[in-house]
Amino acid sequence: MAASLGSSALDALSSTLISPSLSTCLVFLATFLLLLEWRKVQRPRGFPPGPTALPLLGNLGSLPTQEPGMALYKLSKEYGEVFSIYLGHTPWVVLNGYEAVWDALVQHAKEFSDRPVIPVISKVTQRLGILTAPYDHSWKQQRRFAVSTLRNGNTFLKEKISEEVAFLLQTFRESGRVVDPTFTIQNAVSNIVCSIVFGHRFDYDDSRFRHLLHLLAENLRLFSGWIGQLCMVMPWLENCPGPHQRIFRNADALRDFYDESIQVHRQTRVEGQPRDLIDAYLDEMEQESQDQSASSFSDGNLINVVSDLFVAGTETTATTLRWALLYMMAYPSIQDRCQREIDDVIGSSRAPAMSDTASMPYTVAVIHEVQRMANVLPTGFMHATASDVIFRGYRIPKGTIVIPNLTSVLYDENHWKTPLEFNPGHFLNDAGQFVKPDAFLPFSAGPRVCLGENLAKMEIFLFFTSLMRRFQFYWPDPESQPCLAAAIGASRSPQSYQLGIRQRPDK
Ligand code: HEM
Repeated sequence: MAASLGSSALDALSSTLISPSLSTCLVFLATFLLLLEWRKVQRPRGFPPGPTALPLLGNLGSLPTQEPGMALYKLSKEYGEVFSIYLGHTPWVVLNGYEAVWDALVQHAKEFSDRPVIPVISKVTQRLGILTAPYDHSWKQQRRFAVSTLRNGNTFLKEKISEEVAFLLQTFRESGRVVDPTFTIQNAVSNIVCSIVFGHRFDYDDSRFRHLLHLLAENLRLFSGWIGQLCMVMPWLENCPGPHQRIFRNADALRDFYDESIQVHRQTRVEGQPRDLIDAYLDEMEQESQDQSASSFSDGNLINVVSDLFVAGTETTATTLRWALLYMMAYPSIQDRCQREIDDVIGSSRAPAMSDTASMPYTVAVIHEVQRMANVLPTGFMHATASDVIFRGYRIPKGTIVIPNLTSVLYDENHWKTPLEFNPGHFLNDAGQFVKPDAFLPFSAGPRVCLGENLAKMEIFLFFTSLMRRFQFYWPDPESQPCLAAAIGASRSPQSYQLGIRQRPDK
């Protein structure tokens, strides 16, 4: 009774309040707001074309989270090699095909080498370090320092990789005939970066390190999934509760780990005798503080350089190696041919060395083809325009987010004979010698090109040939075929699989 009295009173009230003129006003207001929203997703004159964007959402939701690079490449067939999409109100320019990507990143390097301000990322990195830093003096100094530290330790790196290979081989020998190699490979690869940066490796059964690697992988997954997309479109979400807060909690746990190690280094270092990258950085900080010129060597940059090398250097290389083993199971005759070459050139009495690459064109071609097909960063990493630019007839304002779509380069129909097929022949000439086509750009190009390219190449070659020399890999389930489709995510990784391992007799 009370309830019905209440509701009829409310009806009466609303009919008094919302008179026809008021409801007309509301309709006008809603239309006006919708028009405003609609205007926000209208491309300015001269801006690259693209699919119609909806008010509020833009093109959000119309792009799949699985194989986003391929979806963008398909859109380029309709809208051209330079087109745009909207995520919410924010336009993103997408570059497609080798020519457009090279033209922007290399020929127009100054204009295209900035990084965008993405609140959810800036909250974690403060735009310090290398990976997410703007294209400025600080980025240049930090990058130069990291590159020279990696280069100085070339012999050291080879030793560390060989040491780690021995641990990995031992683990594979003991692990039984069928395993999921994901974690062991991730740990082995990460140990190389850890040796460079922290001065030591972590055992494969170290539970804290295992947990940190899990957080790292989880954050990459969250960033590249729908949660990450939502945070980009609605930056204010970062202060609200929700599943995205996990990104920040994971990032905090990882930073605590880097920070602890930096503190230990401060207490145990001997000035001028660096044991690793952190010691070398602390030396540099002291030297630069005596210098009058503006120095960017600071606590904030140190922790972010450490984080960038750890984050960028682990998943990418580990994922490539997982693809390599999967492709070897899927193509046993290619595996056989690699093993024959490895046996002929290296034999069993010594370990593989980088100098062997010159006499192993087939294996090197297979590794390159794995990298091309694996395409582990399918849309590269976000760039931004550092100034207004006219590019290929389009007007792109300063600060626009730019995606160099690496999928469209690595699978470019104008540059690869069979772009979607695993074919080591892409990297061999008629005489069976190794050749590298221009469109092989898994590390991107220009001033922002991956600074770990040489290290990654060393790791992939030495891990791959060492494993192939000692083991034969086979698909353990006779009822099914290896699945070469990627799992969901911005970094293109294989779906988890079981690896069949058989020891090869010594040659
Ligand atoms: C197979 C392995 C790897 C692949 C495919 C790869 C690929 C890439 C790509 C596509 C970029 C973005 C370049 C751009 O913005 O245009 C990048 C950036 C970067 N990579 Fe790698 N990477 C790999 C391994 C590594 C390793 C081992 C390290 C270091 C230990 C590393 C450190 C970095 C850093 C610091 C950047 C940021 C460069 C900058 O902004 O100036 N990467 N990488």
